[in-house]
Amino acid sequence: MDYSYTEDQKMLQKMLQDIGEKELKERAKEIDQSHRFPRENVELMAEAGLMGLTVDEKYGGGGMDYICYSLAVEELSKACASTGTIFSAHLSLCTMPIQDWGSDEQKEKFLKPLASGEKLGAFALSEPGNGSDAAAMNTTAVEDGDNFVLNGSKAWITNGAEADIYLVLAQTDKELKHKGVTGFIVEKGTEGFSFGKPEDKLGIRASSTTQLHFDNCKIPKANVLGQVGDGFKIAMKTLDGGRVGMASQAMGIARAAFEESIAYANEREAFGQKILDFQAIQFKLANMSTDIDAARYLIYAAATAHDRGEQFSRLSAQAKVFASEMAMKHTVEAVQIHGGYGYTTEYNVERYMRDAKITEIYEGTSEIQRIVIAKALQKEML
Ligand code: CAA
Repeated sequence: MDYSYTEDQKMLQKMLQDIGEKELKERAKEIDQSHRFPRENVELMAEAGLMGLTVDEKYGGGGMDYICYSLAVEELSKACASTGTIFSAHLSLCTMPIQDWGSDEQKEKFLKPLASGEKLGAFALSEPGNGSDAAAMNTTAVEDGDNFVLNGSKAWITNGAEADIYLVLAQTDKELKHKGVTGFIVEKGTEGFSFGKPEDKLGIRASSTTQLHFDNCKIPKANVLGQVGDGFKIAMKTLDGGRVGMASQAMGIARAAFEESIAYANEREAFGQKILDFQAIQFKLANMSTDIDAARYLIYAAATAHDRGEQFSRLSAQAKVFASEMAMKHTVEAVQIHGGYGYTTEYNVERYMRDAKITEIYEGTSEIQRIVIAKALQKEML
């Protein structure tokens, strides 16, 4: 699809495609199979100025818009979904909320090293006992002089053991439910802060996913993000932005599966002709191409609303649920097109299928996206 990108967006897209083709794609299989966190990919993204892509230039960022953010997650994920995950959790879930709600001191201390890529960020909302029902969290933060004392555990944390700076949501007043949730900036190395074992995942296996444990962990009051009690709204707004990235990741994975399916169908012969010449295969490819374009329009509608400062919860949820379900469906079709070979690690499509599945789960399951859409429609239409 020929979307009318600006010159800056075209230049960024070209740079991302080069990095993807020349660097990320060739490492993707090895790091998936070894479950190795690709520190060299993080360094590469930092050198390319990607880690602060949408951060204000005055804090060392690229000052770019949300279409650029979408392009970055799409192209990185097309080459290596684990790297797309590392990037998106760092930028949209940790770095951007510090830009949006942080004090001047917090921006100086935390935003600048995050934007340069010197430090890696993570976001900690879910817990072992509650993921979808985010307000039901049990991690507590109790006031103690100039500090809050954190106790509890967080689960499924992307960049878990590898990050340096964590945005952690905790209950400062459980009676108030979601209105008692507060955001804290927590640094690796703080006493009482430790990690669980890495999760052994189906897909995005090179990204680090761990639990975080807080045992009487003292966090200075200066590290409260926004005001005490603002945490739930910060988390929800952060996820609105994050979900545009997850939709873009799904689109990138689907594009990789689509392109490799065309190439394979153009080589593989059966019954005396290329399988690309069978209408059964052509229809699968036609459906993939149509759905990828449809996902892109939804994603860019959400990204544009974000950049205009409009309410975009519904659009980002619609983009995520559509793009993630389309990626799951079409990566399965890509394996089908590749037949027996697609079911082996000789080809990439089995990895795309495994990687696609997480996009229907993290940053809110497909069921949660439908709840967000339905709630927004009620507000808009009744
Ligand atoms: N923006 C601003 N405010 C919002 C909002 C938004 N998008 N969504 C909700 N709110 C506000 C509401 O207006 C309401 O405010 P008031 O009390 O002032 O009226 C308040 O938040 C509570 O809203 P709800 O009653 O809708 O809240 P709820 O408890 O019913 O939950 C939910 C709503 C949509 C289900 C929410 O809990 C949710 O999004 N759950 C999924 C959580 C999720 O995505 N987790 C993923 C974790 S992160 C991750 O996966 C990344 C990783 O690293 C692995």
